[in-house]
Amino acid sequence: MTRLVIFCTLLLVGQSLAIKKSRVRKFPDNFIFGASTAAYQIEGGWNDDGKGLSIWDVATHMEPSPIIDASTGDVAADSYHLYKRDVEMMKELGLHFYRFSVSWTRILPNGFSNQINQAGLDYYNRLIDEMLKNNIMPFLTIYHWDLPHKLQQLGGWANPNIVDWFTNYAKVLFDNFGDRVKMWITINEPKQICYEGYGSTSKAPMLNYTGVAEYLCSKNVLLAHANVYKLYDEKYRETQNGSIGISISCTWMHPVSDSYDDHQAALDARQFDWGQYAHPIFSKDGDYPKELKLNIGLKSAEQGYRKSRLPLLSTKEVALIHGSSDFFGVNTYTTKLAYRDPSVDGMYPIPSYMDDMSAILIKDDSWPQAQSTWLQEVPWGFYNLLIDIKRRYNNPKVYITENGWSTSGGLVDEDRVRYYRNYLNALLDAVENGCNIKGYTAWSLMDNFEWMRGYTERFGLYEVDFSSPQRTRTPRMSALVYKEIIRTNTLDPTYEPENDIAL
Ligand code: NOJ
Repeated sequence: MTRLVIFCTLLLVGQSLAIKKSRVRKFPDNFIFGASTAAYQIEGGWNDDGKGLSIWDVATHMEPSPIIDASTGDVAADSYHLYKRDVEMMKELGLHFYRFSVSWTRILPNGFSNQINQAGLDYYNRLIDEMLKNNIMPFLTIYHWDLPHKLQQLGGWANPNIVDWFTNYAKVLFDNFGDRVKMWITINEPKQICYEGYGSTSKAPMLNYTGVAEYLCSKNVLLAHANVYKLYDEKYRETQNGSIGISISCTWMHPVSDSYDDHQAALDARQFDWGQYAHPIFSKDGDYPKELKLNIGLKSAEQGYRKSRLPLLSTKEVALIHGSSDFFGVNTYTTKLAYRDPSVDGMYPIPSYMDDMSAILIKDDSWPQAQSTWLQEVPWGFYNLLIDIKRRYNNPKVYITENGWSTSGGLVDEDRVRYYRNYLNALLDAVENGCNIKGYTAWSLMDNFEWMRGYTERFGLYEVDFSSPQRTRTPRMSALVYKEIIRTNTLDPTYEPENDIAL
């Protein structure tokens, strides 16, 4: 009997979702749309006009190259010179805002704020002014992974002094751009900075010191973020009147089965992946999630460490971090399945982040696959994530600060169109269920340097011809569809762009 009821309910829910997907749906009034990029991925001009070296300049010039196609961001999409064309594209799309990041070493060549590079300030002033002239709101990310190499030599995000270094850098940006920039993100994707950069080799500085380094980094990233929030809040907010938050990469982890263990595995995986950063800021009481403290504490003790490898936060630090964000910036792309299997204990190195988490993460081959191996299309996972954030953190104000799909290139990107439509549908479901989502950002405005994958994975609404000196930009089908979504503030599944972009 109960099974029949569940079956009928699922049928009805399924039908109503199918109906929603096939009808025109409206976004809330005042909902805003944008697109995103990051300095190292698009700018080029890697050593122009006094810019200093970042960890990505160093990584991409290593021999042999750790980048799959041995490419660099030396020129990338050349936005350092072509920013006017970039703003033209924003205009063509009708974007309300553009999320871009500032290169720390373009402004402070050595990382420290004693020496400011005027040419760097001039570049971002030109970009910001050009955007404002065209009615596009600048949404500025202070740190998107291109740490000054000099600071990495001192330990980078594993050195607690980075809290001061980062705060001094942010102050220069508030002083110089805060009169015109009203939307700020302190740090992009802490987990990718810490786990991928310090706990593995999949991002610069490729420290590969898992089980220890990513947790030192985690604490320093949280404190650096919170200190900059406090600075803005206390010294700048009154005169500059902006908002400041953080962008956290969130993957929905779904239990493989309904068993208690698999549910716990999925929860642990979420807490390690993004709760680690979100809980201290957005939860009711702050601090690291208990699953994180417990797992790492127990394992550290078993392994003979005198203290937990997760450096704990003092009461003062918990208070500083708690509530340090005007909004939750959600970067999200995909979903993974999680399960627990004690018989495979020892499959991960000890100590390690993966062993601490003790969850096994897998993909479902039936989900549509992007060019990036880690990226599959799972709109219901996006919906679950948004509902979980609402419940867990008391319905914070959310901006989706990144979401997108990779291909190997080409203008007729029907799979990207499908992905955007399905994810936006899921977003509208979440809004209908009370989630406080204020805006959406497509990753990315244009093709760019996809970190270790070089130029082999393309995320752009605009295709960039990296073989032409002009770095010609051409709108894809997805650009035209996104443009129509923004123009009408609706999602119309039947809309087909008029331009024959295949030609
Ligand atoms: C998140 C990162 O912020 C961005 O730099 C990257 O290109 C996209 N994900 C796609 O992998």
